[in-house]
Amino acid sequence: MEQFINSEYVSLEKYRKNPIIFHYYSEIIRYWNKINFALQSTLRSLQFNRKLKPRLKVIYGYSLYRTFWEKVKIGNLLKALELNLEQNFFYSIKVNLIKFLKRLKTFSWDLALKNKTTIEKISIEYAIPSFFIQRIRPYMDLPSLKDNLRLMNNFNLGKTYLIWNKYPMDLDSEILFRKAHEESNIPIKGDDDFDGLYTIPNEYKKEVLKSTYFKNGDIIIADKGSLAIIDLLNPQKHELILDLCAAPGIKTALIKRVINDRSILLTNEFQRERIAQMKNLMSFLNIQDISILNADGISFPNRETIKFDRILLDAPCSGSGTFLINPELKWRQNSGFLHQNELLQKKLIQSAIRLLKPEGILVYSTCSLYSEEGEKQIQQFLEYLEPLKIPQFYSPSYKIDGRELSGTGRLFPATHGTQGFFVGKFKKKG
Ligand SMILES: C[S@@+](CC[C@H](N)C(=O)[O-])C[C@H]1O[C@@H](n2cnc3c(N)ncnc32)[C@H](O)[C@@H]1O
Repeated sequence: MEQFINSEYVSLEKYRKNPIIFHYYSEIIRYWNKINFALQSTLRSLQFNRKLKPRLKVIYGYSLYRTFWEKVKIGNLLKALELNLEQNFFYSIKVNLIKFLKRLKTFSWDLALKNKTTIEKISIEYAIPSFFIQRIRPYMDLPSLKDNLRLMNNFNLGKTYLIWNKYPMDLDSEILFRKAHEESNIPIKGDDDFDGLYTIPNEYKKEVLKSTYFKNGDIIIADKGSLAIIDLLNPQKHELILDLCAAPGIKTALIKRVINDRSILLTNEFQRERIAQMKNLMSFLNIQDISILNADGISFPNRETIKFDRILLDAPCSGSGTFLINPELKWRQNSGFLHQNELLQKKLIQSAIRLLKPEGILVYSTCSLYSEEGEKQIQQFLEYLEPLKIPQFYSPSYKIDGRELSGTGRLFPATHGTQGFFVGKFKKKG
């Protein structure tokens, strides 16, 4: 947390194995601007004007989260801190911390936010950077924006999707699968849009991770949006297919689920460490004979005579549709970060077009809610790409210059129960 407070980017991934650390770390980061706002206002009201050292800021922020969000009594919080901090340090901060926590009880959001602009208020209330709101606001009305933000902050409001790792799912498996849930009292529902897709409330995810069918690799835990994207890709028999940016391999697994050995799937990933992750996932899901190349997708090393029938370009992006699972990404959002992703996406799209056969199919997707990584990116390539039909399941694209962009669509947490995605499907012009 001290590194995070010093504005260094710290991935949450490595803390996943310790549920308690992961919980506090991810939740405090999720609400960081809100916590910091209440923290600074309370310190000001105590006329404490010095800047807190990062370590102290972590302790104040943690104490604030526990008393405000979890309603822990001050006495219990102090006992926990005393047990976990060095004695001398704890006693040196105790008196001021108690003063702070007592004053915090008088803190009022209404009063503190009174003179703020609408964007500042949403930013603090929904713990989201104002940069994000400014980018999304031209395309979304205020109630929809707030609905999406509420779902992007609250893990327990969401669903976990379980996808049967064989397609189609046979009746015997379906009966056994449902029975396993009934026996363990996990409320499960079949999905109306896709075969073999089930949902459970997020609070039961831990139970699923302990189940035999999960440990056997019988299910893929993935966002419904990922399944929708592979459904859109619609790989066919005898095709040469490329998954250009493949790690950690969720969509690769979903492609493998629907193709048979009469199609050839080649996958590629730039980052070596992520290839290791991908290999682990493939072996966990019992997926064999997978070719993973470690190349830069921008200069993909293919022969001029070998072109692909179908390419999935699930491009690297800001991740602005994934704050529910990647809250640390919120505080990386700024124009520099967005621009860097835009440049990379542009080069990858150029490369994908070059790698496709004439009339070959490109599906481009990003887990981003910014138009710059979706509609505006695609607009630059319409000379080479013919838009194809997008299923009704998707929301229309954002309007650019007053018009929706054909061949593209969007998924939103509030409308589809997925993460935020942009998708586009195109045929390479002959
Ligand atoms: C959105 S993620 C892909 C997620 C993946 N399709 C899945 O469903 O699990 C984008 C990936 O592109 C990779 N990447 C970034 N730059 C790349 C490049 N120049 N060439 C190929 N892959 C790249 C990133 O390392 C990251 O793993």
